[in-house]
Amino acid sequence: MSLNYKSYWRKTGLKGKWGNIFLERISLHNPKNILEIGVFCGVTARNICDLLNKVNENNFNYIGVDLFGGDQSEDKDEIEPKFLKDQKFSNPFKNIYYNYILKENLNSIKSVSKLLKKYSNNIKLIAGDTNKILKELDLQNIDFTFLDGGHSYQTVINDLTTLYGSMKDKKKVILCDDYGKESYIPEVEKAVNDFTKQNNLKLNIIENRFAEIIT
Ligand SMILES: C[S@@+](CC[C@H](N)C(=O)[O-])C[C@H]1O[C@@H](n2cnc3c(N)ncnc32)[C@H](O)[C@@H]1O
Repeated sequence: MSLNYKSYWRKTGLKGKWGNIFLERISLHNPKNILEIGVFCGVTARNICDLLNKVNENNFNYIGVDLFGGDQSEDKDEIEPKFLKDQKFSNPFKNIYYNYILKENLNSIKSVSKLLKKYSNNIKLIAGDTNKILKELDLQNIDFTFLDGGHSYQTVINDLTTLYGSMKDKKKVILCDDYGKESYIPEVEKAVNDFTKQNNLKLNIIENRFAEIIT
């Protein structure tokens, strides 16, 4: 199947070739229940739904967790997503369209829900800090997690610990962004290395960017 990650005229963390490389991982593992930590403007969410809808004929579930403009519960040296407070675009047409005509913050739960409207029966969007709310979610059936939320050492460790608690020994997938040199964040690399070492887990590095953990 040919994969075609679309940007939907919004901002995404997976620019250029990265969108299709990401979709290849989804296609390879073919999950039915997927969790994205760090939804941002919903572009990856929409592409995941488009793909799973095609492959699984509407039989899939997507859960997305993000601060959606809210504050973090504690100060954890987080890399503050500045875009939320002051939405900027390099393209002046986008700036006019989103900031002056629609007056829409693309990282709001309202805006992302609108983008995912076609899949409203398959999706759940949750606003909150994963350091706090991830523990409150039922993650038992999650097959694949894209970990791309808070990028501080402690948040990545906390998120991995909670996820692994539900996914352990089930051969499920946790794909961590920003591990390799193509989009390197040192805190992410250190947290993923420490966590996998402690739990005797193997790491599969994808295209020098993503770190894939099979639980
Ligand atoms: C790099 S962006 C995600 C990009 C998105 N996965 C994509 O492909 O377009 C990171 C997102 O994580 C969210 N975030 C940061 N810290 C978080 C936290 N502690 N809990 C939940 N979401 C968080 C931010 O609000 C931001 O939207």
